[in-house]
Amino acid sequence: MTIEEVQEKLEKLRAEISYHDYRYYVLDNPVISDAQYDALMRELIKLEKQYPELITPDSPSMRVSGQPREGFTTLSHRLPMLSLANVMGEEELLDFDRRVRTSLLNEKIEYVVELKVDGLAVSLWYENGILERGATRGDGFTGEDITPNLKTIRSIPLRLQKPVPFLEVRGEAYMTKEIFLKLNQDRAEAGEPVFANPRNAAAGSLRQLDPSITASRKLNLFIYGLGDYKGTDFTTHAQSLNFLKEAGFPVSKDFRLFNDIKEVTEHCRRWEKQRFNLPYTIDGLVIKVNSLAQQKRLGATLKSPRWAIAYKFPAEQAQTEIKEIIIKVGRTGVLTPTAVLEPVRLAGTTVARATLHNEDIIKEKDIRVGDRVLVHKAGEIIPEVLEVLKTERRGTEEPFVMPAKCPVCQARVIRLAGEAATRCPNLTCPARQREGLIHFISRGAMDIAGLGQATIDNLLKAKLISDVADLYYLKFDDLVNLERMGPKSAQNLLAAIEKSKSNPLYRLVFAIGIIHVGERASRILAARFNTMECLMKSAFEELVVIPEIGPKIAASITAFFDLEQNRRLIAKLAQSGVKMGEKPPEKRVGALNLTPLLNKMFVVTGTLKNYTRDQVQEIIRKSGGKVTSSVSKNTDYILVGEEPGSKYTKALTLGIPVLREDEFLNLISSEIS
Ligand code: IVH
Repeated sequence: MTIEEVQEKLEKLRAEISYHDYRYYVLDNPVISDAQYDALMRELIKLEKQYPELITPDSPSMRVSGQPREGFTTLSHRLPMLSLANVMGEEELLDFDRRVRTSLLNEKIEYVVELKVDGLAVSLWYENGILERGATRGDGFTGEDITPNLKTIRSIPLRLQKPVPFLEVRGEAYMTKEIFLKLNQDRAEAGEPVFANPRNAAAGSLRQLDPSITASRKLNLFIYGLGDYKGTDFTTHAQSLNFLKEAGFPVSKDFRLFNDIKEVTEHCRRWEKQRFNLPYTIDGLVIKVNSLAQQKRLGATLKSPRWAIAYKFPAEQAQTEIKEIIIKVGRTGVLTPTAVLEPVRLAGTTVARATLHNEDIIKEKDIRVGDRVLVHKAGEIIPEVLEVLKTERRGTEEPFVMPAKCPVCQARVIRLAGEAATRCPNLTCPARQREGLIHFISRGAMDIAGLGQATIDNLLKAKLISDVADLYYLKFDDLVNLERMGPKSAQNLLAAIEKSKSNPLYRLVFAIGIIHVGERASRILAARFNTMECLMKSAFEELVVIPEIGPKIAASITAFFDLEQNRRLIAKLAQSGVKMGEKPPEKRVGALNLTPLLNKMFVVTGTLKNYTRDQVQEIIRKSGGKVTSSVSKNTDYILVGEEPGSKYTKALTLGIPVLREDEFLNLISSEIS
């Protein structure tokens, strides 16, 4: 290819990938599969590696790039980022409308009402359609430059579909409730502090010096307005929102226009209930005067515009008492202390239980049985104790002690070093088996229609099943006599179980419940290994180099398949006819003597990002290479991390090939795939 052809090809790939990012992350309507997308991205990265001089900052490959930084630099906003004045309730909203009307001498007014997503305000700045800078609000005049972190948010366009000479947009970065809950669950298990709400989690994720951490938090964003701009013009706010949508920005579809403040108040009241159905949290609505000319006449105070107001929902918190602390045993054996509460109304439901996460959090908050506490719903879903009302203590409250034995099977519990979770190690613990079965049949997993918790409990009670594979050996006669089951539903259930046998491999990988292996990791693993057999045989070194897998997941997978009991379970599933994936017809891994590392002499210098020195030496040795401590002319490669020492300089003088960490990863992963 000539350089012009390469350039053209790169442009085409970038445009194609950006289009699919837009379909997936903004429109929520992808038109190609994950595998097809990954193939495009791989092609782009490969070509950019060959021609690094042709890499542009708006390339989709640059979303996560660059090294962790020392600190943040500050940036001045071209126009101050004001905040909004708040109102609570209808009366105060009507007051706002009166103020606006008086200032505008009773002219006709149109309002735009938007959702007030609960996240972090950010400003994005585009020059000639290319994202140049992104900043936090800061004090409104200067914010922090968080460009690399914002680039990891896949719904943010790196290049606009409508290039204008200059455009600054403002929006709210947020974390969905689902990602927030999962993040907190992982953090609680690892003994890290949990985030109080998705807003704190989003803010904590954006203010990371290492953008790869931000990327792993999978943030999202809505753009709600313009900052400074040149080369285009608008007469109303709604018009600017439509323009932003067409330019490729994620603009919430939930904005509405009203002529009458009464309708606005009804709309607010509707959202007060409806908000719990959203996948993210909102803490109110924002009401804005639509006409930009009117906005200008209304102006702003030092802090906030007079043409907009935040209608805030009441905080959903309640006070109640902890009656008892019980222990729930999950499918991975984690013992979760749970508070039994004096039932209390909270955010639309009656709450009688609240998770206390783990022993350390109970200690830290000093939660005792008998305490009066303040509760809320984390991510609007999981009831959680916010704090103890210590002034109401009577002296009879009892501190919590983690039991030494599993309350279900009496096995001695363990707490691993570096973890906050206490676990029941017994794989046949009835509680673990029940939760494991419920996970196995659930929607993201094997998705067996018509099989719910109640039927699982009945099947367990009747001793018809004890592990997940038993489901595939059930007969019509077993089912038909169960409680609330007739011939028709028994037949339907058998058909649904049968159908699940042909599920794609990733569902099965997810369903068997390997610790830390969620849906995404399951897809990656299934795509990489194609069959359960290959996955089972995979070594730690093979797993750890797969992008997004890493040492924690890799160790968990090998530990899972090291257990004879788990291997037997897989065999029992296969025996019943559950599909275990298929090898694709194309070439497979070569024998070990084809590996690029075989008999090669390595020297390692500097600090690596993904591995300790011991881990990387182990990988090299297991792949047939050798590691020595000093550089000589016999050295084949020098693997260089951060702050390399004098070995690096010596290698350069001897002309020894230098491998950066990512190049090394590519080398070993090409051996695996
Ligand atoms: S307009 C000058 N619209 O709420 C007015 N703000 O203090 C600028 N927010 O953190 C704000 N959703 O980031 C506006 N649809 C929306 C919003 C919104 C969330 C946030 C904003 C800021 C706070 C207002």
